[in-house]
Order: sequence, then C-alpha cells, then structure tokens
Amino acid sequence: LATTAPVVVAPAMHTEMWRHPATQQNMRVLRARGVHVVGPADGPLTGGDSGPGRMSEPDEIANAALAVVSGAEGGRARDLAGLRVVVSAGGTREPLDPVRFLGNRSSGRQGVALAVAAADRGAEVTLVAAHIDGEVLGGVGDGVKVVSVGTALEMQDAVTEAASAADVVVMAAAVADYRPAEVAKAKLTKEAQGDRLTLELVENPDIVAGLAAGRLSGQTVVAFAAETSSGDELLERARRKRERKDVDLLVVNEVGWARGFESADNEVVVIDRSGEVAAEASGSKREVAEAVWDAVVATRR
Ligand code: C5P
Repeated sequence: LATTAPVVVAPAMHTEMWRHPATQQNMRVLRARGVHVVGPADGPLTGGDSGPGRMSEPDEIANAALAVVSGAEGGRARDLAGLRVVVSAGGTREPLDPVRFLGNRSSGRQGVALAVAAADRGAEVTLVAAHIDGEVLGGVGDGVKVVSVGTALEMQDAVTEAASAADVVVMAAAVADYRPAEVAKAKLTKEAQGDRLTLELVENPDIVAGLAAGRLSGQTVVAFAAETSSGDELLERARRKRERKDVDLLVVNEVGWARGFESADNEVVVIDRSGEVAAEASGSKREVAEAVWDAVVATRR
C-alpha cells in the first residue's frame, strides 16, 4: 500500500475461490485503483483438479511487469500521452432548502474509472466530481486533479474552465436537467405547506451541448446517456441524442432499478458521428473505460 511503483498482481487459487463473488469484487476494486492483473490461467491446479485459477507462467508475469514499467500494459500504448483530458463524474444536487436537494443515483464509479484509465494511458487529467463517495474517489491516484462541485451550475463553471485548455472532454456526470426555481431560505415545513407541495423547476443549461457548440478546434467532446429503453429504441434515442448535442461520441447504457448506477459492472454502446456503433463494451467499469478511450483515440485519428 505504501509503494508508489506500479503494482502487478498474478492471482493463483482454486477455481471456487477465484469465482467467488468476494474475490471477483476485490479484483474489481484493485483494477479500478489501477492495479495491473495477470491471469489467472486455466489449467491443472495443485489439488489435482483443473480450471481457472492456475498461476500464469513466470515468463508471462515477467513480460506483463516489463510492459507496465515501459508504459505499454498488455501492448496498450500510452496513447493519451500529451493530451489534456477533462472527465466529469458523479451526480449533481440541486438544493430545495438548506437541508434538502433533488439528486440522482449516480455513484461516480464510471467517471472515476475513466479518469484513472486516462491517467494510466498518459493523459493529464482533471476530474470534476459531484458528490462522489470517499470510498469511490479513493481510487483516484495523484495523477488526477480533482475539482469538487455541488450543483449543475457549479459543474458548468468548473467543466467550462477546465475544458478551455483540454483536448478531450468526457461528460460522464449525471447532471440535473432542472433545478428549483427558488431555493427556500429556511427549511420547508409541513406546517407552512399543508398536505400538498408544488415545486417549480427551471431548466439547467445543457453543459455538454454548450461545450460541443463552442468546442476548440481539434477538441473531442464525449457525452454519456443513461436510458431506460432497450434494443433498437435505445439505439435510435442514442442517435438522436448524439445529433442534438452535436458530440463526437455518445456512450449509451441501459439503466434500471437494478442496472447501471451503483453496480461495479457496466454495459455500453458507443455511437459516433455517422450514427454507427463505434464500440460495444461490457465488464468492469474500468474495462468499459478502456473501450471508451479506445473509441476516443480512434475518432481523433
Ligand atoms: O440529455 P441527457 O441528460 O440524457 O444527456 C446526458 C449527457 O448530457 C451526459 O453526458 C451528461 O453529462 C450531459 N448533460 C449535461 N448537462 C445537463 C444534462 C446532461 O452536460 N444539464
């Protein structure tokens, strides 16, 4: 834990242990923190049984370690080196009164994974973070500059400022579309409101659409879309949203009561300017992050 060196882990254990949810969850935590994982291989184990859990061959582990210190993990180049990247993550909160807010269920995990992956690929990263748990934000190393914000308007200021010198902006945050027209100075009470309370909301600026409209030359703007539809309808909505916001890439995922938001895994489709599916990825949020950066590198080319 004290080392500042890159860490490579080569897990070796019985198949049952490897497949256990506790192990899998711990592996996801390690990956999200930027630990490099080699193996395990699938083959004979010391107990005489056979399956995933066999230690990778020493040569393979040595090669993986060499690749990490030479900056080419698993053949992955530091292909974001020299680029300045802004990632927004988490969910904004719009205050109603001094103690209440309108918020959403975004944990910030996907955005944090994007920021860490970009830093590992050589980018200079600013993470604009809205209400991300310390446990999740703890996965961010020294290589990422964190700017904390609360509301959509604060996020707009922070992202716009960081974007003014950025090559790539990825808006992974869940931004409130509306905010209360007025923030009550004192706590709203049942005594004063009675049995019905009507809130008036006003639209927040669409931050990513604003950035895309004023983008610097050569700047790549990426938006996310969480949709509760699926299949063709999901893709059609995604295409329309990409066009409306005029972003270079739209990363869309299906969400629901039990999908997407607080979980460690994610499943996304990336739509490009032509409306084509540029990438599809599923797995840990780190794996999804790598696929998004692959798509960013490909469009910039
Ligand atoms: O329109 P929708 O909210 O689904 O779009 C989601 C995308 O737009 C995300 O990338 C989100 O960060 C961004 N967004 C924004 N400003 C808003 C609302 C969403 O930048 N007010």
